[in-house]
Amino acid sequence: MDKFVIKGGRRLTGEVTISGAKNAAVGILPAVILSDEPCIIENVPTISDVNICIRILREMGADITFLGNDTYRIDPTGIRSHCVPYETARKMRASYYFLGALLGKYKKARVSMPGGCPLGARPIDQHLKAFCSLGAKYTLSQGMIDLTADKLTGNQIFFDVVTVGATMNAMLAATKAEGLTIIENAAKEPHIVDLANFLNSMGANIMGAGTDVIKIRGVQKLHGTTYSVIPDQIEAGTFMAAVAATKGDVVIRNVIPKHLESITKKMEKIGVHIEQFDDSIHVWVDGPLVKANIKTAPHPGFPTDMQSQIATLLTLAEGTSIITENIWEQRFGYVDELRRMGADITVNGKIALIEGTGRLMGAPVKACDLRAGAALIIAGLAAAGITEIEDIFHIERGYDCMEGKLRALGADIEKVSIPDNKDSSKNSSDKAAV
Ligand code: EPZ
Repeated sequence: MDKFVIKGGRRLTGEVTISGAKNAAVGILPAVILSDEPCIIENVPTISDVNICIRILREMGADITFLGNDTYRIDPTGIRSHCVPYETARKMRASYYFLGALLGKYKKARVSMPGGCPLGARPIDQHLKAFCSLGAKYTLSQGMIDLTADKLTGNQIFFDVVTVGATMNAMLAATKAEGLTIIENAAKEPHIVDLANFLNSMGANIMGAGTDVIKIRGVQKLHGTTYSVIPDQIEAGTFMAAVAATKGDVVIRNVIPKHLESITKKMEKIGVHIEQFDDSIHVWVDGPLVKANIKTAPHPGFPTDMQSQIATLLTLAEGTSIITENIWEQRFGYVDELRRMGADITVNGKIALIEGTGRLMGAPVKACDLRAGAALIIAGLAAAGITEIEDIFHIERGYDCMEGKLRALGADIEKVSIPDNKDSSKNSSDKAAV
């Protein structure tokens, strides 16, 4: 097992380049299954969730070559299995995208139920509702979902809740279904638009991605393509919070400013200066940070995946801030760890009250999920003294070489190996990714 050791108190300065978006890549890689020819996927982040996707595709028979420079050549024509191995699938939250891709291509799929995770319940009823709307039947047994369909026919799908995963899965399954599918109450995140653009670059016919109504006309064949994954808006937002927490001055490259709008607006209210360019932003702080009220919401609202990071920043701001988590039942797991560092946070249901103390003290802490881990890094960078963060496998699921990027900005952060604790309850190979 590894841990991060951070000596806090150093300003972040210089330039950093953002990697490809995790939540786009974990949808696009399974989507290659739908193609009848090899595809080249660029700007793929080097993170463990991607490594698991690549491993699953290889185990199913795809021929995959890493071409360097975050680029893969994937030939799906050798795939002979419609089953995603249980042990591999349960490690990754987003393995459910293999359901939609395999169903869409082979009209059958067998994938493990995605594991629960520290965010609370992660139901997939809306995914299954979408598949059944297209003509599929499913059974659940031994922790596995089996999907079959004699034929996939376009239909109207109305989601009871705005769901990123089910919206992407419905697009995957409907791409080759006969006729017109209309998805209503669709999620609008940038990674949904990215998946639709990828599928269309292979010859799919998807319109309206990024709005709440997506129309898909099924096609019979999908050709190969070369496609570049969009930059990760959450990695960019995480670095924005880290720069602000250290009162730094950094240019963040390879971003789409439009994707950062809700984050930028909140950061500016807190006292962070942000200058926008075509594909980069300049972030700096030269005065006090002030309180803010944050309510997470589906895109274009403030992203839940930035909630823990901005909460950490607000512990350093003057005044009392309020955070309302509207997406997940349990996304304040990081609060206990921040309290160990001197934060004054009170949680009541989906609301957290943050008394800005203006300072944090280094302490030994543990990451409980991907974004909680990112929040603890930000806290460690700003804290006085040494912070040691354990269970960093969570962080490495979604951040491409975080410590290297931070060191290049002047942070004092090292990754240190620690002997595996035999009775450790957190075995990285078993934790479900978020
Ligand atoms: C995706 O999760 C992201 N993960 C999450 O990012 C992100 O927090 C979430 O979208 C919201 O933006 C990936 O893309 C791999 P949802 P997903 O379906 O698709 C309920 C990170 O840190 N719901 O949009 O699982 C659900 O309980 C991770 O990168 C149902 O009720 O989220 C939740 O309350 C964490 N039934 C709400 O919808 C369903 O069938 C939104 O969930 C599906 C979801």
